[in-house]
Amino acid sequence: MYKIFETVDDVSRYTAQRLIAKITAAPAAKLGLATGSTMKPVYAKLLEYIQQAPLDVSQLTTFNLDEYMGLAPQHPQSYNYFMYEHLFNHLNIPADHIHLPDGLATDTESVCSAYSSIIQTLGGLDLQLLGIGSNGHIGFNEPQTSFASRTHVVQLSEQTRIDNSRFFAEQSQMPTYAITMGIQDILDAKEIILVATGSNKSNIMAQFFNSEIDEQLPASALKQHKNLTIVLDREAAALLPEQTLKSAI
Ligand code: F6R
Repeated sequence: MYKIFETVDDVSRYTAQRLIAKITAAPAAKLGLATGSTMKPVYAKLLEYIQQAPLDVSQLTTFNLDEYMGLAPQHPQSYNYFMYEHLFNHLNIPADHIHLPDGLATDTESVCSAYSSIIQTLGGLDLQLLGIGSNGHIGFNEPQTSFASRTHVVQLSEQTRIDNSRFFAEQSQMPTYAITMGIQDILDAKEIILVATGSNKSNIMAQFFNSEIDEQLPASALKQHKNLTIVLDREAAALLPEQTLKSAI
């Protein structure tokens, strides 16, 4: 299902409301969370709503999609830092309910397999929130990642390193490797919300729309999912067919 809104603000409001609805219906929900520019206004809206109408988040469990290898949690560009700054510092989710891949892990094989196992042991994710990279990555699952993948270490593509170097003072500081939940971990979620905003996402959203299910385009794996909502603003949806735009408003 596509939902297309006029502005980023509308997209963020809708997405935050979906999260609130999920938490209200299932206070002990397991949420899969994303970072990145797209998520900042979503989390800001979520916090705004929770301030207005308090919500019990003390039973929630969260799993983040990914983390850069080599960055400590205190590093301002780490995804751990991002999540505490934009969400966790402002909510009373118990610390031991918050899960992020460990970017400093040395025994990466066991750390990765433990990450996917914990999710499975807890019964899987109830809702997975996703952004999309300009090359179609979800999490840090770059083109050609197996759709059967579980949490693993990935070498970031050149495109991702170019896109994300905007957050680092110099491109040379941009990490080369990351840990990411796998595509199968994502597909196992009971419900998925993919959010894309801005004109820099219009090309990839058109590619996604037109693509077959193909490992060259990681996000296309989502087309097999039974409960997927794609939330776009006008700019990200600009290259979708008129008919889709009409039916999604
Ligand atoms: C981040 C993540 C990535 C981003 C994607 C879009 O945790 O998993 O897949 O969602 O790179 O990033 P932004 O929102 O910065 O364009």
